[in-house]
Amino acid sequence: MQNKDSSVQATFNSVARRYDLINRLMTLGSHQTWCREVAARATSFPGRDYLDLATGTGVIAREIRKQYPAASITGADFSDSMLALARQINGGDGIEWQFADAHDLPFADASFDAVTHGYLLRNVSDLDKVLAEQFRVLKPGGVVSALESSPPAGPLAPVIRLGMRIVIPTLGQFIGKDRASYEYLVDSTLGFLSPEALRERFIKAGFEDVQVKPKYLRTNMIWSARKPS
Ligand SMILES: C[S@@+](CC[C@H](N)C(=O)[O-])C[C@H]1O[C@@H](n2cnc3c(N)ncnc32)[C@H](O)[C@@H]1O
Repeated sequence: MQNKDSSVQATFNSVARRYDLINRLMTLGSHQTWCREVAARATSFPGRDYLDLATGTGVIAREIRKQYPAASITGADFSDSMLALARQINGGDGIEWQFADAHDLPFADASFDAVTHGYLLRNVSDLDKVLAEQFRVLKPGGVVSALESSPPAGPLAPVIRLGMRIVIPTLGQFIGKDRASYEYLVDSTLGFLSPEALRERFIKAGFEDVQVKPKYLRTNMIWSARKPS
């Protein structure tokens, strides 16, 4: 594991307990709705085998369960603390929670009809490897559906950047008792790829039909892409 990944892993182990609450506050309650949309995009395609990567406390995995009770769902993450919470929350019946690093997935080629993830890509040390792994474990015709943050752009960008720099570490300090981890979350969002650059990386990994839907002043994006049949 690269240094960046070990430090990201330590960060998420540290923020796990208050993560969902702060996430709700940071997104003014929209996170759940976006996760529902990510799940709906995945379940709208034929198939029953789902992988929710970087599952955290399992919000997207449980949305898939709600929308498609007969689905076979694996929720995978490399934070033991996040997985421990995911196991305790109601609504995850039958979901298999599994430790896994997104750079090196412990699944056979062509195992899943859809791979979902929320806020994974800005955290990884090797984006191309992570997308290649998703491509490998998807069946031909399978889809990726994902929520990712996006650096602010356009005339409001300086104001949004300033707001993020003030509000998010303050929430982290007072609610999560961990300002440094939430400063990391802001830095990783502001330093992440533009939607145009990320689209190119999906295409480079072999995906087609790459679509993106902006949310929340374009600071969040719902992505979908398909592995050719
Ligand atoms: C910001 S949280 C999002 C959790 C959940 N998807 C959500 O939307 O609420 C990011 C998650 O990605 C996980 N993560 C980051 N890098 C990872 C990697 N290389 N492999 C597996 N999980 C990773 C973290 O442990 C953390 O649980």
